[in-house]
Amino acid sequence: MNFLLFLLQLLAISLPCIPRNVAELVYDTDGKELTSKHNYYILPAKRLSGGGLTTIQNGKQCLHFVLQERNGTNLGTPLRLKPLPWKRSTQEPIRLSSDIWIEFHDLDSFCATMLDWHLTDRSLETLLGRRQLLAAGEEWGGRSFGVLRIEKYGADVMGYKLMVCAKKEACKDLGVYASKDKIWLAVTDEPLMVVFVRKTSY
Ligand SMILES: *[C@@H]1O[C@H](CO)[C@@H](O)[C@H](O)[C@H]1NC(C)=O
Repeated sequence: MNFLLFLLQLLAISLPCIPRNVAELVYDTDGKELTSKHNYYILPAKRLSGGGLTTIQNGKQCLHFVLQERNGTNLGTPLRLKPLPWKRSTQEPIRLSSDIWIEFHDLDSFCATMLDWHLTDRSLETLLGRRQLLAAGEEWGGRSFGVLRIEKYGADVMGYKLMVCAKKEACKDLGVYASKDKIWLAVTDEPLMVVFVRKTSY
């Protein structure tokens, strides 16, 4: 019996150290790791709460706003997620609580090849009340990047929430905000619980 104990101790000593600071990965609805090599749709985790995230152009400029499809059968617009610091050759998966970029990636219908998500100070005339909205694309004629994060969220249904991290401020939750006939993605107190659906065909 003592020998068994000795063996167990030996085993415990020789086990490789598991790094504690490596954040957990993020998974799509098929249980596969999220990577920067695929396109995804971001959809509400709860069925019957609308469709996927999409984009609408604001005027003639290459600035869009992020909004949610009303119709639950619409997946929205494909997105790319990129871990930071971003290198084209990167093989890193997307991790929880890590800084990322999110971009709309639908080369057919955009004024630019990618539309990068960021928080905007701009407002819309149709908007009721003052909200900080999520924009995508160019701000004042140049690319504008925002730092975002994915966190685990939800108890009864497993999902994630999105956060936007403005300079020198704590990260803020992103949720939806209905105004007139549109549902905008904005900084809110109540995060939207989301899942990631991998786009399979190109
Ligand atoms: C949602 O979209 C589907 C497919 O495009 C369509 O058949 C359906 O009528 C739409 N539902 C509503 C409420 O607009």
